[in-house]
Amino acid sequence: MKQMLKIFFNSLGCLLWVASICFNVNAQSFQQKSISKRTKDNFDFSWQFHKGDIAMKKVVKVGGQGGLTDINVKIISKEDTTIDYTNTESAKIFYPRDWKEVNLPHDWAVEGTFVHDNSLGNQPAVSGYLLTGIGFYRKEFEIPETDKGRKISIEFDGIFRNSTVWVNGHYLGNHESGYTPSNYDLTDVLRYGNEGKNIILVKVDARDYEGWWYEGAGIYRHTWLVKTDRLHVARFGTYITTPKVSTDEASVNITTTLKNEYRTAKNITLVSKIIDKKGEVLDTKTSTLSIPSFDQAEVSQTGTIKTPMLWSPETPNLYKVLTEVSENRNIIDTYETTFGVRTVEINRNGVFLNGQLYPVKGTCNHQDFAGIGVALPDKINWYKLKLLKDLGSNGYRCSHHPPTPEVLDMCDSIGLLVLDENRFLSSSEEGIRDLSTMLYRDRNHPSIFMWSMENEEGIQGTVTGTRILETLVATTHKIDPSRKVTAAMNHARNDGGYADVLDVVGYNYGDKGLAYVKDHEKYPNRVQFCTEGTSFVSTRGEYENNWGKGYCSNSIIWQPDWGPYPGEDWSDIVKYPYLGGLFVWTGFDYRGEPTPFGWPCISSHFGFMDICGFPKDGYYAYKAAWTNEPVVHIFPHWNWPGKEGDSIKVHCYTNCEEVELFLNGKSVGKQKAVPYKKLIWGLKYKPGKLEAKGYKGGKLITNDVVETTSAPAQVALNSDVTTLKADGCDVSVIKVAIKDDKGRVCPTANNLVKFSIEGPGRIIGTGNGNPTSHEPDKASQRMAFNGYCMVLVQADKTAGVIRLKASSETLKGSEISIKVE
Ligand code: GAL
Repeated sequence: MKQMLKIFFNSLGCLLWVASICFNVNAQSFQQKSISKRTKDNFDFSWQFHKGDIAMKKVVKVGGQGGLTDINVKIISKEDTTIDYTNTESAKIFYPRDWKEVNLPHDWAVEGTFVHDNSLGNQPAVSGYLLTGIGFYRKEFEIPETDKGRKISIEFDGIFRNSTVWVNGHYLGNHESGYTPSNYDLTDVLRYGNEGKNIILVKVDARDYEGWWYEGAGIYRHTWLVKTDRLHVARFGTYITTPKVSTDEASVNITTTLKNEYRTAKNITLVSKIIDKKGEVLDTKTSTLSIPSFDQAEVSQTGTIKTPMLWSPETPNLYKVLTEVSENRNIIDTYETTFGVRTVEINRNGVFLNGQLYPVKGTCNHQDFAGIGVALPDKINWYKLKLLKDLGSNGYRCSHHPPTPEVLDMCDSIGLLVLDENRFLSSSEEGIRDLSTMLYRDRNHPSIFMWSMENEEGIQGTVTGTRILETLVATTHKIDPSRKVTAAMNHARNDGGYADVLDVVGYNYGDKGLAYVKDHEKYPNRVQFCTEGTSFVSTRGEYENNWGKGYCSNSIIWQPDWGPYPGEDWSDIVKYPYLGGLFVWTGFDYRGEPTPFGWPCISSHFGFMDICGFPKDGYYAYKAAWTNEPVVHIFPHWNWPGKEGDSIKVHCYTNCEEVELFLNGKSVGKQKAVPYKKLIWGLKYKPGKLEAKGYKGGKLITNDVVETTSAPAQVALNSDVTTLKADGCDVSVIKVAIKDDKGRVCPTANNLVKFSIEGPGRIIGTGNGNPTSHEPDKASQRMAFNGYCMVLVQADKTAGVIRLKASSETLKGSEISIKVE
């Protein structure tokens, strides 16, 4: 035994010696070999922001190594420069003292005032009359000496738009798209330890636009600093599919791309572990390989999950692949990929999820929210998705561009099927790069059931458009052969063979004249899906159209001629399930596109919910259609002073079989409900209590009450949470209601509410859902609109108690406490 141990230790010594030679080779090449694992650190805090352009003077000979963006530049001799770094005005502006401190995500457009200037053309109207311009961000940071030898990169999840990045004066690159992420390798240009501080400078030129909605301006998504070994899993370097799924077993194909950025070839071991949500390892696959210097390798492995827990919106079961890369038994990189096991089949009969017909009950959405523009903390993205889920929706279309990555993580875990959409119909180098980035970034998400190549681009249905589309479809099939591809086509423009190059033909507003049904018969091989519909316009709490104020009635007096009434289009999906499902335009109101108005109206009216997430009446049409919950919802409100004795119509969305309406206890009549249609009663207005009772099989199952209220008497606050994380990010959504003395929300109250805050938190925005409000969102006061407004409070990084007070002249105020821990 002793002898054996001796042999073992001798061999170990030999191995260590060989390893140390390798180590020395590496040490010579890159000073120090790092064996610490990958880190991905949030890089959102402590940026400085300057609004407006800065003349970027070129510095001859030191242009690449210093110049105006550097803090430690050494100018060797005056002749080397075309400017005097220390004395010019433009140089001074790079000193941070005049810059504003900001944390990301940040949108400077929403901080501005609304501008109505016809000379600027139509674009300000479609983007919400908020101006963009140019802005600069800079941040100083230190990198420890111990990071020398690692690969360090910065990942911007999204900058709107046209961003240029310098680090320590070195130009790193430019990225046009406002919707795809950009990444820069900083390894060579960073200063480590005593070498000095680093400075990153980002120029954002948001003057141009990509869409016809509010797009914001700035570094509006998260930013990350990623550090890895020089041998590591590549960016978006795993691809996981489950090509064979049965109740007994699922096969899991794992493709991993590894990058060797050492000056020597590397022999490594790649281990992929399939892990369930309890953390149990279900299967482990091991491969060994050699990767030449400055090269990359793709490794394919197949694992198995016994009796898999399938993913669906109702059962959002997730698994993980943990990738471990080791050299000489040292783990040098780890990487986690979340995936799900599910099958999606889209054919002439509809969408089938895990073998079952699964009509998609979806909404289209833009990314903004009240108070914060497009710079949404994660919590607000989650809040929006949760509201959609509560409505009974099971689908989300990221119209018309790839979303922030956290939205996809949340759709995976909350359970929403996603139609992920490319921004432009372009097969230019940049167009293909943006599409590919979306595909590589997003293809592991089980929530994504189909890719969309574009939305209603002007050259749909032309021969040129067809050629471009064909290239995009082929690119998509190559990068992700596991999903079908569609394009959202306005009235399915088929000309030029456009529809024929798609797997699934996307119909926007195909309900007109039942075009999609006619096409189903006309084209025997066509697979269809309703990528967009409805576009019903309404303003929360308004029951008359008001062209002066820019309000649309909820009682449906006016409707764009391209969309049906709320809920009615769903009846087509039920009747013709081969249409696959529907993405209603839209879940939430958004800034811009104030159809059918222009100035002074600054935001859209298409949402079931307003821009704060307060439901409008149309919300209940879809709740009735999409859930099994009994729904009876009557409107308008019952506060019509001066209209006593006048005729008034009461409308009702329901999924009950019969509904009886009562005014002050007296029946106004019982009506049989027709699925997906509204019920209407005509009566004479008398203040008091209006009640609707819903019946199924002759049994009373639910009711709704609307009462005439007294005058506004008090402000009521309601936070969605009682505790926030002390992470500087978490947000509480506080609903503010104006109530009467009996605690009933006053449906026409527009009182001004003033907020004050104490403790470790701050107000990051306010809103009220009024599409014509020109009040600033970044403020500590807001007028209620038809009974409600909202304030967003973000926690600091310290623990304590936030106290938010709300006051309003003549009303009883209110106070709320939120713990921060
Ligand atoms: C659609 C378009 C959407 C939005 C909508 C308004 O045609 O795809 O982006 O503009 O109309 O109804």
